[in-house]
Amino acid sequence: MRIDIITVVPDLLKSPFEASILKRAIEKKLVEIHIHNLRDYTTLSYKQIDDYQYGGGAGMVMMVEPIDKCISKLKSERDYDEVIYLTPDGEVLNQAMANTLSLKGNLIMLCGHYKGVDQRVRDLFITREISIGDYVLSGGELAAAVLCDSIIRLIPGVLGNETSALTDAFQDNLLSPPIYTRPSTYKGLEVPKVLLSGHQRKVDEWRDEKALERTKELRPDLLKED
Ligand code: ADE
Repeated sequence: MRIDIITVVPDLLKSPFEASILKRAIEKKLVEIHIHNLRDYTTLSYKQIDDYQYGGGAGMVMMVEPIDKCISKLKSERDYDEVIYLTPDGEVLNQAMANTLSLKGNLIMLCGHYKGVDQRVRDLFITREISIGDYVLSGGELAAAVLCDSIIRLIPGVLGNETSALTDAFQDNLLSPPIYTRPSTYKGLEVPKVLLSGHQRKVDEWRDEKALERTKELRPDLLKED
């Protein structure tokens, strides 16, 4: 998989890919991340990429031309499955969307800033608009990093244990059951006996039961979906 991220704040997208699982995925060549500074695609002085809104109103708008130049250059070099715009008014990210996107080959992610992009960017280039939640960030960069993480960890070979992504919370629309490690007793709190029993079928049944119980209590909305 290859992900090209277009941004006006490339520095915000450095560290997420320089540690832990995402770093290892890149080193193992399971994913390539390419960050593009939108300011490299403007011909205007002071590397201007935004301007005032037609019709008035507070906040600057990202101009169509530099974005067109950047996306068109990328598209002339290879095919892309999706051109994603990170925006608070997009479809809210969930596990099913991450699963679908993890099966794609090449993705472009465009990070919005200021008031957002000129509508013609959305009309001409964007195939999918994604939000990471009903709140407003200063820009789409952190949202793009979250989206990348949710996708990349699902690529086969990225996680050490192949099955671990499949047992994550939200796969099957369930939260995860409680988990424990040593010691078996801490400050009077004991690990449930069944987990120490060595009886795998009973352990699995207990986990299914607890996952359902937790979901009913904390996120009953998940059980109502579909
Ligand atoms: N840009 C600003 N806020 C955002 C959000 N919640 N999701 C995606 N992109 C954003």
